[in-house]
Amino acid sequence: MEIVHTLRDLRLRLAGEGLVGLVPTMGSLHEGHLALVREASNHASCVVTSIFVNRLQFGPTEDFDRYPRDLEADTKRLASAGCQVVFAPTESEMYPSPQRYFVEPPALQNELEGAVRPGHFRGVCTVVLKLFHMVQPQVAVFGKKDYQQWTLLKEMVESLALPIRMVPGETIRAEDGLALSSRNAYLSTEERAEAPHLQMALKRLAVAIHAGSATDLNQTIEQESMTLQQRGWHVDYLTVRSQYALAEAKAKDRELVILGAARLGSTRLLDNLECYRLVGPS
Ligand code: PAJ
Repeated sequence: MEIVHTLRDLRLRLAGEGLVGLVPTMGSLHEGHLALVREASNHASCVVTSIFVNRLQFGPTEDFDRYPRDLEADTKRLASAGCQVVFAPTESEMYPSPQRYFVEPPALQNELEGAVRPGHFRGVCTVVLKLFHMVQPQVAVFGKKDYQQWTLLKEMVESLALPIRMVPGETIRAEDGLALSSRNAYLSTEERAEAPHLQMALKRLAVAIHAGSATDLNQTIEQESMTLQQRGWHVDYLTVRSQYALAEAKAKDRELVILGAARLGSTRLLDNLECYRLVGPS
C-alpha cells in the first residue's frame, strides 16, 4: 500500500491502473470505513481511500479543530483491509486557493441534517466532486450510515452525468447496536452506555410501521421522541421518509427510511433504519 499526499503523486501512482475504486473518508477510521474498503475491492482492482478532514463542510461552531486525526493508525488499518493507495492531501493541496466554486445541491440540502448544519452538504458535495476529479475513479463507495449524504451524492452523480458507479455500504454497528462513528470517541462512559437507545427507538418504529400498527405515525414518532428526551437526549429530528430522494413519506409509500439525529451531552449521534410497510392505511 502506498501513501500519497499530492495530486501529482496520486496521478503518477494511478497511471495505467485499470478499475479504480474510491472510498472518501475524513480518517479516524473504524470497521465501518474498512467495510467500505472491502466492498470497493469487490468492484475495483485498485482501491484508493482518501483521508481529508474537509473544512468546507464544518460550520463555524462545529468540531473541525477537535475532529480526531491519526494518520498512522488509519494507514495500518487500511493496509489490512485491502486498500492499495491512501490519498491524504494537506489543506493547501486540496484548497491551494480559497474554494470559490461550489456544488449547489437541491432543496434536500436544507432539510434534516442540513437544517441543523447549514452549508454542510454544499461542502460535502463540493469536496466529493473535487476528489472524483482528482482520483478519477470508476466506482465510489459511500456508507448508508449517512443516508442523506448518500442520497444527495447519488443524485449529484446522476444529475451531472459523472461516469462513476455509486455503491452503497451497509451500516456497521457495535455489538450493542450503536452505529460506528468517529464521533463516538467523544462519548463519556455513561453516554456510551446510553447511546444504543437511539437505534432502539428506530427499531421500535420500524416494527410498528412494518406491522401496520402505527396507525397514527406522527403520534408514534412523537412518543419515541419523548422517550429519548426523558432519557436525557436532545432530539434534533426523528422522522420517516421515502427511500427515494428522501421525499416526504406518503401513505402509499412502501419503502421507507427512519432517520434520527440526537445529542447526548455535546455529542451529536446520527442513525437511520430502512423499513418496509406491508400494507398501507385504508
Ligand atoms: P466520514 O464520516 O469519515 O465517513 C466516510 C464514509 O464512511 C462515508 O461514506 C460514511 O457514510 C461511511 N461510514 C461512516 N460510519 C459508517 C458505519 N458505521 N458503517 C458504514 N459506513 C460508515 O462522510 C464523510 O466522512 C465525509 O462527509 C466525506 C464523504 C468523506 C466528504 O468529506
